[in-house]
Amino acid sequence: MGSVGSVTDTVRRAVCPGSYDPVTQGHLDVIVRAAAIHDEVVVAVLHNPAKAGTFTVPERIAFIERAVAARDVAGSVRVEAFAGRLLVDVCRDLDASVIVKGLRGSTDFEYELPMALMNRHLTGIETVFVPGDPALAHVSSSLVKEVARFGGDVSGLVPDEVRDALVERLRADG
Ligand code: PNS
Repeated sequence: MGSVGSVTDTVRRAVCPGSYDPVTQGHLDVIVRAAAIHDEVVVAVLHNPAKAGTFTVPERIAFIERAVAARDVAGSVRVEAFAGRLLVDVCRDLDASVIVKGLRGSTDFEYELPMALMNRHLTGIETVFVPGDPALAHVSSSLVKEVARFGGDVSGLVPDEVRDALVERLRADG
């Protein structure tokens, strides 16, 4: 381990992976908190090219970049997209030593634990779980989309720009 200020100090780079279709305030809370405890955060937009999402990958990236730009941590966060790859391989290419995930509750934990164990099995990479903000425990991309599709107000659950785009997109899609 390098001493404080030593040139041998390594950058602690974390990856916040997800499909981000679209990014929610819950995601942003986790990204900002991950950035507060690491030197750098790469928000990895992982997508399946065979599956059309609600938003294109460039749209998802732009929503995240613009939302992060308004935060103090903007300088240490970047957003990149990856398709059809294992998360561990993405982390290796990015030279990231940690995966950060938010947990809204026990259902998230049940879903995330096998993935964290599998990822550690594959390359030894650790996953750090951040407890989600309880005020956002009900917020997911899929629920937000369902509410918006049927005319519900999702203000405060996603950035305003995303809310407006959701209304447009889901109305256009019928
Ligand atoms: O936002 P999501 O859909 O919950 O994100 C899930 C995601 C993209 C992080 C997860 O499906 C993933 O890591 N996919 C990459 C492929 C992979 O590595 N699969 C094995 C996980 S153990």
